[in-house]
Amino acid sequence: MSTGTTKSKMAKLTLRDLDVRGKRVLVRVDFNVPTEMRGGKIRITDDTRIRESLPTINYLREHGAKTILVSHFGRPKGKRVQKYSLRPIGDYLHSLIHQPVIFSQDTIGEVPEKIIEHMENGDVALLENVRFQPEEEANDPMFAKALAKLGDLYVNDAFGAAHRAHASTAGITKFVAKSAMGLLMEKELKHLRNGLEKPAKPFVVILGGAKVSDKIGVLKALMEKADTILIGGAMANTFLKAQGIPVGASRVESDKVDLARELLDLAEKRGVKFLLPIDAVEAEEIRAGTPIRNTSRLSAQHGISDGWQAVDIGAATIALYEEEIAKGETILWNGPVGIFEIPDFAEGTIAIAEALAQSGATTIIGGGDSVTAVKQAGLADKMTFISTGGGASLELLEGKELPGVAALSEKS
Ligand code: 3PG
Repeated sequence: MSTGTTKSKMAKLTLRDLDVRGKRVLVRVDFNVPTEMRGGKIRITDDTRIRESLPTINYLREHGAKTILVSHFGRPKGKRVQKYSLRPIGDYLHSLIHQPVIFSQDTIGEVPEKIIEHMENGDVALLENVRFQPEEEANDPMFAKALAKLGDLYVNDAFGAAHRAHASTAGITKFVAKSAMGLLMEKELKHLRNGLEKPAKPFVVILGGAKVSDKIGVLKALMEKADTILIGGAMANTFLKAQGIPVGASRVESDKVDLARELLDLAEKRGVKFLLPIDAVEAEEIRAGTPIRNTSRLSAQHGISDGWQAVDIGAATIALYEEEIAKGETILWNGPVGIFEIPDFAEGTIAIAEALAQSGATTIIGGGDSVTAVKQAGLADKMTFISTGGGASLELLEGKELPGVAALSEKS
């Protein structure tokens, strides 16, 4: 994260820098929310991303703009797929802002043009899923231009999609007079980039999730800043194996064992306290109700049992990690430490969430499944900041430039 390029560090225009009254403002939001089908109807199971867009939408309404929302939803691969229509999301937004949300069944062309022509100041419209067009993900300039034509100004508030260089997140900025970041984008960057530039020490990082390969970049970047890194989830197995500890039938990335060894060496060189689970909860099957047991202390002689898999961190590891978390002044968490979707395997992840909630430190939840875990534990309001981005927050923490931010107008 210290490696962000000069360009990404340049101050970008923000929504508050724009004169939006009476203007058609195209706002890229990330309404890619989890849903389920119930009684033949789509139900939003987590509306955080929509709610987090409200400050920008309400700012624009209050300042007399004509707000035109652009979003993707799912991965329809350039085709019109009914289940990925944004229409129900528009209806839901209507219920949140208590104002009709005018829906355009097409993303570009005559249909939205007509709708926008008739919009009054303060009105809100939503365009159909931008990924119904193959040109979106191809970052096609003609499509970006057609989209840009619908507005006078462009605001990117889609932090969750800011790591994508698509037409509606990046290409479009070439065809609008001014492009600025929205209030959510600003907030995400403040916490995940600026806030972690010089974190109050000790800086404790908890990294979990399935694969070491997904976290190499972030691990290396965080080793430059962190005092302590606590490892959990299936990725811990690869590190355990690298230390010669038997992992039974646990999920391991066998081709990443050498890399794990290198990362362990790097942590030692940098003087980072890099902790792996010292015990585990093991099970023979990944299913609710299956018998589980806590291993004894892990060592080269006593690893995970043959035919069993590590499914969560064990009781001794929980106690060890709680102790480290309590010492932290800044704590960043990305990735659950066990298969928390199954309640029997969720104890470690819930304990981490509770330890963060009680820590009194600045606590940052870096997107993805750990956000779901914090919410499931009912502890979301106890955290300093919870990111709405999964892949985007990881890339930002790695120090990568986000195309959706880099493309915006500079303040000067
Ligand atoms: C996300 O859910 O991480 C964002 O909305 C980006 O979606 P994508 O991974 O399909 O580009």
